[in-house]
Amino acid sequence: MWRSPAPLLAGAFLFGIVMGRAAGRPAAQQNPLPPGKNMEIVTGRCIICHSLEIVAQQRQDRAGWEDIVDRMISYGAPIPPEDKPLVMEYLTTHLAP
Ligand code: HEC
Repeated sequence: MWRSPAPLLAGAFLFGIVMGRAAGRPAAQQNPLPPGKNMEIVTGRCIICHSLEIVAQQRQDRAGWEDIVDRMISYGAPIPPEDKPLVMEYLTTHLAP
């Protein structure tokens, strides 16, 4: 009856997928940035090069953020001029001193 190991292998395979997903989920959803307007845009643009912890732990005034965002753009951050005010609005609202 159970001469073929196929059902067992299939079971192990599915178990692996389920466990792999469950293990991957918390890390994938963790975002250290405080929730707020334009958070998605900051998340998407700033996570390309480094973790968002670097951003979330900063407290800067407008001049400080202007300086950092300009530096990130000079490094190649994909923030076109029309998006910069959105990024600045988020940072100066949620990560002010
Ligand atoms: C093109 C790559 C790149 C992108 C995209 C990028 N950064 Fe950076 N960021 C860096 C590098 C490289 C460093 C480390 C060197 C340094 O500190 O100048 C850094 C460091 C930082 C630091 C550490 C403090 C400091 O003054 O250096 C902050 C804060 C920061 N980034 C914020 C941001 C924010 C906010 C965004 C999104 C708007 C962003 N970064 C997107 C490359 C990038």
